Amino acid sequence: MSFDLVLFGGTGDLAWRKLMPALFQAFRHGTLPSGGRIIGVARDALNDAQYRALIHDRFDQVELAKRPSEEEFARFAALLHFVQMDLSKPQDYARLAANLRERNADTVVMYLATAPSLFTQACEQLAAAGLNSPTTRIVLEKPLGHDLASNRLINEAVRRAFSERQIFRIDHYLGKPSVQNLFALRFGNALFEPLWRRETIANIQITIAEDLGVEKRGAFYDQTGTLRDMVQNHALQLLCAIGMEPPINAHADAIRDEKLKVLRSLKPWTAQTLSQHVVRGQYAAGTSGGEAVPGYRQEPGVNPASTTETFVALRTEIANWRWAGVPFYLRTGKRLAERDAHIVINFRPAPHAIFKSPPGATNQLVINLQPKDGLELHLLAEGQENRRAIQSLAPVQLDLDFDKRFGSERVGAYERLLLDVIDGRLNLFVRSDEQEEAWRWVEPILEHWRTDSSSLRPYNAGTWGPSASSAMIARDGYCWSEEC
Ligand code: BG6
Repeated sequence: MSFDLVLFGGTGDLAWRKLMPALFQAFRHGTLPSGGRIIGVARDALNDAQYRALIHDRFDQVELAKRPSEEEFARFAALLHFVQMDLSKPQDYARLAANLRERNADTVVMYLATAPSLFTQACEQLAAAGLNSPTTRIVLEKPLGHDLASNRLINEAVRRAFSERQIFRIDHYLGKPSVQNLFALRFGNALFEPLWRRETIANIQITIAEDLGVEKRGAFYDQTGTLRDMVQNHALQLLCAIGMEPPINAHADAIRDEKLKVLRSLKPWTAQTLSQHVVRGQYAAGTSGGEAVPGYRQEPGVNPASTTETFVALRTEIANWRWAGVPFYLRTGKRLAERDAHIVINFRPAPHAIFKSPPGATNQLVINLQPKDGLELHLLAEGQENRRAIQSLAPVQLDLDFDKRFGSERVGAYERLLLDVIDGRLNLFVRSDEQEEAWRWVEPILEHWRTDSSSLRPYNAGTWGPSASSAMIARDGYCWSEEC
């Protein structure tokens, strides 16, 4: 199958940090269909050879194991081309169209790795130049808007040019092998389904912790914040994967219909829940990996009086028969104690205790997403550590390490998603109604923060966030996994 992958923003940060390395991995693994071209598009005045040289140099920053040898790069570089374009100029789209027509590939992928402010214009111009035929697919990177209204405007503009089955909205968390394993765990095994409900589960905790700060993205981040950057998309997608009903099959719309139902069932916010069930924090100076690091307000590109959040913890519920009354806690933030994304399913205690067990010990299923990928099942067992104190239980743990089982060299998120786009598989991409529903749900929080600046809590870099996050969960009688 021949394909042309047109990478708008071809010299930008995303292209060289994520997309080129992912495309190279697919090439190395032999999964990238042969007979393809990768066409970088940007304003820069480059020819193919200069573009190849630029990408070659940037591979120096990729981890060693994923870096091409000179011989490999020479073969990969043969796929790379460059077209200089100003996205506001119709004649430049006409030139691109002429270039693509010459080859008439089976599939054309337009990847908009550009500022979202260019999405609407780019889609209109692509359609005007006839670059929206049914064999064309369009890929949109987040953020798609900064609130519900702007998200809708983008989606409407994209849908005027492309049909929904041509539109691939990326949430790279859905491409992670660990997240696909979450779907496999729930819908490939019958074991957990009878337990996956309010009668057995006391609460669910979703954590996406990053140890890095905002790095070089201060200016972008200051306009965005954690709620828009991580909660509206990645964290809510994880919540959907945990909370959704089993889809009737594995087709994209069957899966997306069920995720949408979860988003629609999230309990609406009230003045009381907004003030008690949402914590926003911002990192102050502290330490990370043993080194002193500056606070968020001292980061380059950040307003020194910024009130943008770098941490969010919240409590919500899915109001349906399966989940009514079960708290779902979500937290995510930058400059936290470690890089660690995991989900904890806390089961209810045995209904009647006949053995002595450590206080608070219950069954737990921990789904490790990164950097570890695997499952831990926490049980209670008679350990007989004290020979005289029989029938006193101790916690034990069953570990399933997917990195060991399947190797840590598994298909990366962007590699998987790019191949899915080329093959036309929409399962791991987000539909517009899901996205809009997620924005609808986070909007009251944004609105609340606009009028209440006092709720911003500082936390020291290298910790697990503001103490208000622990206090929020403690009010329900629970604790975050690292605290219990
Ligand atoms: C991106 C956010 O979507 O996800 C970043 O914009 C964040 O701020 C990143 O760092 C986290 O992704 P990962 O795959 O490193 O967990």
